[in-house]
Amino acid sequence: MQSGAGNLEPESGNLLMAEITITPRATGIGAEVGGIDLGKPLPDKSFEALRSAFEAYRLLIFRNLHWTVDQQVAYSEKFGALEDFPDPKDQAEGHKTVLRVTNIDRATNTIKPVDDPGHKSFTLGTSAWHIDSSFRTLPSKASVLYALEMPEDGGDTMFADTTLAYDSLSEDRKRALENLVIVHDFEETRRRHKLPPRPPEVQAATPPARQPLVAERANGRRALFIGSHAASIEGMTYEDARTLIDELEEICTQPAYTYRHEWKDGDMVMFDNICMMHQAMPYDLAKSRRLLHRTTVAGDAPLAGVNGPIA
Ligand SMILES: [Fe+2]
Repeated sequence: MQSGAGNLEPESGNLLMAEITITPRATGIGAEVGGIDLGKPLPDKSFEALRSAFEAYRLLIFRNLHWTVDQQVAYSEKFGALEDFPDPKDQAEGHKTVLRVTNIDRATNTIKPVDDPGHKSFTLGTSAWHIDSSFRTLPSKASVLYALEMPEDGGDTMFADTTLAYDSLSEDRKRALENLVIVHDFEETRRRHKLPPRPPEVQAATPPARQPLVAERANGRRALFIGSHAASIEGMTYEDARTLIDELEEICTQPAYTYRHEWKDGDMVMFDNICMMHQAMPYDLAKSRRLLHRTTVAGDAPLAGVNGPIA
């Protein structure tokens, strides 16, 4: 698929615009985008081409960016209001909407101690298949990850497309899942990693959220809303729910529905956060530096199930 953004002759007095190229990956997960300068404000036509490619492929890959924090914010805001990251030490250059995803301490510009408790729980949390903020009533819509400094070895990100996985299920299986309500709880991830619970006042700020197990999107596509924060399913024992969630995760993370992004400095990956579980792959935390900037487009409505809002 190619999406024309104009190709006008310079003699005409109009601006010469290269053509945007959108190359879907062979597996159907994601597309690579070229021929666009994301350092400049996006013309409406280009934005529209990206928006429809994002809806069609759920993950877009861009290469060789040289983005400032302001440029990343300006691009991301085209897709909706951005989430804030309240802890100043996690913010990139003091921008509250840009999160440093990193093992580098901002104040000293050195690698954080591997046993630093906050860093350890972050690393454990991101290494499991998860959907960002699935434990919120309004889960994030999309994330933009821009790689500034990546390890030579490891540190890749895996993505699992739960829309393609859902499409592969039998009609009977789809029917059996379509009215289930799944509860997402941030504490579940900590329990499973044998980390101590967070203080009660912190837990109170992010209570568990009820979500449809099968989320239906505005375009009619459906996604399995699972991941490491999935804690229970209403009407099932913990054990039965765990078995079902684990089985669905296994289906979603088969090679046919996954994509491994091997980062190069300057890469940007934008992904649909409702239907893309993801996980960070290991790297030498003590020796290799890894720094990405993340912006996240906030959710603006609760997820709908197959039969509309969940009761
Ligand atoms: Fe994440």
